[in-house]
Amino acid sequence: MSVVVSTQDLSKTYRAGFWKTKTISALDRLNLEVRENEILGYLGPNGAGKSTTLKLLMSLIYPSSGKAEILGQPASDVSMRRHIGYLPENPYFYEYLSAEEFLSYCASLFDFSIAEIRTKVEYFLKLTDIAYARKLQLRKFSKGMLQRVGVAQALIHDPKIVFLDEPMSGLDPIGRREVRDLILLLKKEGKTVFFSTHILNDVEVLCDRVAVLNRGKLIGSGRLTDLISQEASHIEIVISNTNLETIRQAVGPDVKISQSGMTLRLELKANVPLTPLVTYIERASGKVLAINPIRQTMEDYFFKLINRDAMLEGEPSVASTNNP
Ligand SMILES: Nc1ncnc2c1ncn2[C@@H]1O[C@H](COP(=O)(O)OP(=O)(O)OP(=O)(O)O)[C@@H](O)[C@H]1O
Ligand SMILES: [Mg+2]
Repeated sequence: MSVVVSTQDLSKTYRAGFWKTKTISALDRLNLEVRENEILGYLGPNGAGKSTTLKLLMSLIYPSSGKAEILGQPASDVSMRRHIGYLPENPYFYEYLSAEEFLSYCASLFDFSIAEIRTKVEYFLKLTDIAYARKLQLRKFSKGMLQRVGVAQALIHDPKIVFLDEPMSGLDPIGRREVRDLILLLKKEGKTVFFSTHILNDVEVLCDRVAVLNRGKLIGSGRLTDLISQEASHIEIVISNTNLETIRQAVGPDVKISQSGMTLRLELKANVPLTPLVTYIERASGKVLAINPIRQTMEDYFFKLINRDAMLEGEPSVASTNNP
């Protein structure tokens, strides 16, 4: 698969403060590659530099150093614009146009016939579920409805690569599911999708490749299947009808046991033989309620990276909600 987006030491510093004497490193020597037909999830905490990267790729701002290429051309080359679609983080719309007029206008910027424009507008109004509001002026749209218009305008000219800056932002659970399905549809159609998000679960479900940014620096990247284990690292056993001391005697001091009401939850290494333990529990009149494999999730991977970075900077770590 050929590389369709690449950056080499791409950097952006901003001057800040009243006298513009302070410098902010929004992006620091980013080296990233996205291959054709991949879905890349671009992650990072607030202020990490995700939107800055996307704006640099769109040539809306210029790098302080380094370079970016899309489809083998410099990102600033206007000839390849035809092949890329972009949903900005805070899309600006012509407020007094209706959704239909706005999408027709977007499509008319490309060399489509009037009939083609009509078909495309119709298709994308339906695909993004805003056909019912086609005549409504955009200033009367809700946040989620506007986000749907933003997604539609990014796709209307059938681009080969789609850049989406937090496409799920402002959407209700139905909208989120629809955008997820849409991203998978784009992949099926052979397109490449580069999207930033804070929703780690979406990354796990959608992405082929993941890149994590923190304070402008890439702190982790790779294929999803290499980053989060597909196999269980631990086994969880949930039991009832027994007490902690009885179980502790069987498993020894190293096994993590937590108690919640009448149930105990044991966390064992994946390679521990289970049959003798289950037999022991049942002989002691315990009841095994569940045996679940636990694998490393995107959330575990994300927090591990962020905490390692915080440690390198001598800062306190950030808690994860999910810690096998
Ligand atoms: N025009 C600007 N002038 C000065 N600093 C800026 C400017 N634009 C962005 N920054 C700074 O660059 C850094 C990266 O911002 P960016 O918007 O790229 O983050 P982000 O990862 O998209 O965050 P979020 O998840 O909140 O959208 C931040 O520290 C931000 O304050
Ligand atoms: Mg952003």
